[in-house]
Amino acid sequence: MKAKISVLVSGGGTNLQALIDAQSSGIIKSGEISLVISNNPDAFALERAKKAGIKTAVCNKKELGDKFETELISILEENGTNIIVLAGFMCILSEKFTSHFADRIINVHPSLIPSFCGKGFYGLRVHEAALEYGVKVTGATVHFVNEIPDGGKIIMQKAVEIKEGDTPEILQKRVMQEAEWKILPLSLEKVCNQLKGE
Ligand code: GAR
Repeated sequence: MKAKISVLVSGGGTNLQALIDAQSSGIIKSGEISLVISNNPDAFALERAKKAGIKTAVCNKKELGDKFETELISILEENGTNIIVLAGFMCILSEKFTSHFADRIINVHPSLIPSFCGKGFYGLRVHEAALEYGVKVTGATVHFVNEIPDGGKIIMQKAVEIKEGDTPEILQKRVMQEAEWKILPLSLEKVCNQLKGE
């Protein structure tokens, strides 16, 4: 049986799109994206999901406050979720949440962990930090999620060259195209496939 995948998003959802496309092309075959949840009701990612015929839900952190994670867990469980993908999900999850789904949550991060990661490193800020430091190579990492932000076991990484004249925006786009959109679907398939064997 295929693993039931829920994808958590907050914004534009290009990584979600890469997963949807990978499902259509057969790269993802051991699991099926059955739900997309956003903490932000205005996330464009929700439109991408709807267009692909995938069920959506909003779990609004601002409105729910302390009840946010409890609500998130119940939505995920009601849906029979086996694997959770954080695809541009900009909320840090507590130990209560991560231990509830131990070894069942994966995240894509836009740097080569352990560089430029952890609390405060998300989205464009990661690329700003890499350029500021002056590294010549950056990349993306897909990893399991535990209670340490960006601290779980690494599943896949891919390096991306930094070029003269890069801005954070240009670099972000290159890291997405050359690394994130490739290793996120491949990692998800790998994890879903391993789950079948359990
Ligand atoms: C992606 O670059 C993703 O790796 C990053 O935010 C962007 C979301 O784009 N995530 C983090 O920084 C998490 N720490 P998307 O909404 O177009 O997929």
